[in-house]
Amino acid sequence: MCGIVGYIGKNNATPFLIDGLRALEYRGYDSAGIYVVSAGTIKRAGKVEELAKSVPEGFSGTAGIAHTRWATHGLPTELNAHPHADESETVWLVHNGIIENYAELRDALSAKGVRFRTETDTEALVALIASKYDAKTPLEEAVRAALAEVRGTYGIVVASVREPEKLVAARFGSPLMLGIGTDGYYIASDATPILKHTREVVYLDDGEMVIVTREGYDVRTREHEPVKKTVETLEWDVEAVQKKGHEHFMLKEIMEVPEVIENSMRGRLVPDEGTANLGGLRDVLPRVKRAKRIIITGCGSAYYAGLVGELLIEELAGIPVEVEIASELRYRRPTMNPEDAVLIAISQSGETLDTLEAIKEAKRHGMLTLGIVNVVGSTIARETDAGVYNHAGPEIGVASTKAFVSQLTVLSLIGLLLGRADSLSATDGSAFVRELAALPEHARTVLSRAAHIEALAKRYASMEDALFLGRKFQSPIAYEGALKLKEISYVHAEGYPAGEMKHGPIALIEPAFPSVVLAPRDSLYEKTKSNIQEIRARSGKVIAVTTDGSEEELAQVADDVIAVPKTHEALLPILTTIPLQLFAYYVAKERGLPIDKPRNLAKSVTVE
Ligand code: AGP
Repeated sequence: MCGIVGYIGKNNATPFLIDGLRALEYRGYDSAGIYVVSAGTIKRAGKVEELAKSVPEGFSGTAGIAHTRWATHGLPTELNAHPHADESETVWLVHNGIIENYAELRDALSAKGVRFRTETDTEALVALIASKYDAKTPLEEAVRAALAEVRGTYGIVVASVREPEKLVAARFGSPLMLGIGTDGYYIASDATPILKHTREVVYLDDGEMVIVTREGYDVRTREHEPVKKTVETLEWDVEAVQKKGHEHFMLKEIMEVPEVIENSMRGRLVPDEGTANLGGLRDVLPRVKRAKRIIITGCGSAYYAGLVGELLIEELAGIPVEVEIASELRYRRPTMNPEDAVLIAISQSGETLDTLEAIKEAKRHGMLTLGIVNVVGSTIARETDAGVYNHAGPEIGVASTKAFVSQLTVLSLIGLLLGRADSLSATDGSAFVRELAALPEHARTVLSRAAHIEALAKRYASMEDALFLGRKFQSPIAYEGALKLKEISYVHAEGYPAGEMKHGPIALIEPAFPSVVLAPRDSLYEKTKSNIQEIRARSGKVIAVTTDGSEEELAQVADDVIAVPKTHEALLPILTTIPLQLFAYYVAKERGLPIDKPRNLAKSVTVE
């Protein structure tokens, strides 16, 4: 999730652009850059301050664009930082989003002699615009013609050396807005850079573009139709904008889950063949398909995601999988045979030291190592031989929510890909793809039930202990739900396979010790329902999480019921984890705790 700013007006653009990037740093960044008409461009890897320090006195102009990068394609280097220009450095562009067909565009342009300098998808877009931009064509027309050939998402602002009196911005899938000031016009990916200058804004909608000059702005559709836009007055303060109006980043990030599932799958589903397309695994796929054993490793929530991945890959591809906590795996006598085993390391931050050391140990034994990582260019992303990026955007809350859901989504794609290389039929594969494609809407349905979950959480907020139970695909979600509650509400919570309850944990059950039981209508529903009855027989309270259509039946045996839409059993964890994230959030909120930064915890554990 990159940050974009643009300015055109009476003043020097540079101060607004640099301050605007600072305001956008919360969105995550690994590099930044600026282009100012008649002054040129400066780009730096690292913090925005690195860029700010590099801007010399006198670097000024009355129009410009700037960008903080959250890398998706290409390492976070100065070369890959935005703004990007075409070869002749006539057209300059900043971009937020993913150009899915950038490889095809690059190939077609290369065939015409265009040379590329970076690994980014964005450079393909600016080169395409330049290829349409001859002396008789206004910039907005070149942009429009280029966007007609693009598949993917974008929020872009484009400047031209040839037409310094204008900026062109366009939006499809990545937010973009225009601030209307007394001294000029401000363009940004959200309101935080604009608020200091004006509260009068126009939001671009998907498919719209705006041509902005010092004299005014003109909003058009991609078909060049004029669009009448309402000027809104912003009420939010900066922090509220960064959290999209939510009280905490954790809630904002839970609410982003549907969009994150979409982004984690973007360009990766192949419905016609009933499989997945994971470009990051392309070069190593033959070795992965030959694997007789897959070892998944990670820490905390990433480890629990791995436990779901184990079941996904075994069920879909029949490959034996074992999952090891990284801090344990790195000290065990290695039994990994490089010939037939592959290590998959899962890490949101890509910097968790235990996970990194487990990878290094596997590599010392010649194993192929793959990463499922959210932060592009992070240490683990670079240490592993290949991998799949989550594209979940920066996760600010210490408790992993949207990244965990993205990890499950990526593991589902890997299971599908390996399954289709084994005995999973095209028919079954296509059915699985259809279920995957329906997940974002199912997740929106779950989120629409947040008020019910909040009411439940308030009623249980005084609990000091809780038991989370589930079977098969739901037992890792029980562990994860317990971890969420532990880490942000400080309630002692334990996750257990429901079948284990009678081997000890049931001794804990009493009225003040509630249980959250994951009981979707899956292959083990009846057994799990019996567990609920066993708990109730001992006066234990039960919150049951089930699937639509089973609420009434479970309401007969449980105290409270939360339902999620039905889907493939192997994909249900992606939906059942959301109510548990919300439950933990609302309990912690009711207890008045610092949710985004819980005590004793760090977002990335880079120590042992
Ligand atoms: C999850 O809510 C925790 N913040 C923690 O368990 C986290 O999942 C773990 O530290 C692993 O982090 P990583 O995914 O960045 O490697």
